[in-house]
Amino acid sequence: MAVNLDLRKLQDIVNENEFKKLYQNGLAYAEEIEKDSSIGFTELPETLEHVNKAKEIADKLPENVDTLLVLGIGGSALGAKMVRDAFQNNLTKKLIILDNVDPETIYSVASSMNPEKTVINVISKSGTTVEPISQFKFFFNLFEKELGEAETLKRIVITTDREKGVLRKLADEKGILSMEVPANVGGRFSVLTPVGIFPLQYCGIDTKSLVNGALNEKKEGADKSVKGAVLDYLFFNKGKNIKVMFIYSDNLYRFGEWYLQLFAESLGKRFDRDGNEVKVGATGVLAKGVTDQHSQVQLYKEGPEDKFFAFFKIKNKKDILIPDSLSEYKELSYLNGKTFSKLMDAECEGTMQALENDGKPLILYEIDELSIENMGRLIYLFELQTAICGYLYNINPFDQPGVEEGKIIAKRLLGYN
Ligand code: PA5
Repeated sequence: MAVNLDLRKLQDIVNENEFKKLYQNGLAYAEEIEKDSSIGFTELPETLEHVNKAKEIADKLPENVDTLLVLGIGGSALGAKMVRDAFQNNLTKKLIILDNVDPETIYSVASSMNPEKTVINVISKSGTTVEPISQFKFFFNLFEKELGEAETLKRIVITTDREKGVLRKLADEKGILSMEVPANVGGRFSVLTPVGIFPLQYCGIDTKSLVNGALNEKKEGADKSVKGAVLDYLFFNKGKNIKVMFIYSDNLYRFGEWYLQLFAESLGKRFDRDGNEVKVGATGVLAKGVTDQHSQVQLYKEGPEDKFFAFFKIKNKKDILIPDSLSEYKELSYLNGKTFSKLMDAECEGTMQALENDGKPLILYEIDELSIENMGRLIYLFELQTAICGYLYNINPFDQPGVEEGKIIAKRLLGYN
């Protein structure tokens, strides 16, 4: 199996009957979610529509481009960032994703930019989010000053709602190339729409394999997503308020950032579907293996019993041998002939066992290799898992009223009515 879920020693911790009952509920929810046409993310693995559209748009852009500047935030940025950073070596263009309004970063990006050789992809489903809109105003001005309006407009791609928002108006009125975010797919579930597909494909990533991976995961069935969702639900209800996502791979680390957003925005909710105040949702924490063994594990081993753990490791990695050097130092000889992969795996196993020895709940995702296809699998697995967990909580995993409120207040503070 390309992504394997190992429940390790959980049978000693989790009540079997309780788990079985919730598992059946979870399976039913998975079916309901996959059949519901108002929930769009489950349909995305079945279509190459967005891959084809991205090619159509790319063919209309100037030829001498070497950089894509993406302006977007949250769900409009994290998916592309995750795939870009996992497959840096596959990129054929520089892919800059600006998801903050820190003027120092904007200044540094702007000062090294060659507008002639750059395309801007502004991404906002709502078309009203202040961060990408303000960045767009800035870069539009920068490009216009250097290239004039006509050449600037040729170097812009807008990704937004089919009808709503100022970006759609702009695309229509100024004849800017544009793509649609399907109305039934929310930001954090949108990596397989033009939101993620266009920037990745334009910069050389094989997005067909990404979509295909998601499809293969979907075809394999919901078992892993359901098990993960049941455990997320169960542990939270047993007072484990913190889920630590321990990722033993530098290249997969940004997957953790993408998953953290999906997990937090989808499941952190005040009210259930019946209007009762429930205040659910565990807090996700990201840790990198082996690095954070030396910064966080002390707390995890000996601190409060409020955590459950999901470990992620890559089975087959490019490897390097630790040579038989410094042979006069016998105390170093235990490393002779070992590889860094073996070392990393031993450290991962050591950390898991050390936590298990204290009865900490822990599961392991083993990915057979870090391929684009397996990234597609992870995307679908965790999107479905998150949605199922929301149904177990009886909350709506697809809205984000807490984020919306902050957006509205910030705009009001800037004088918007
Ligand atoms: O997941 C979400 O819905 C959010 O994180 C949004 O993606 C984020 O707030 C950006 O919204 P928009 O794409 O409308 O600019």
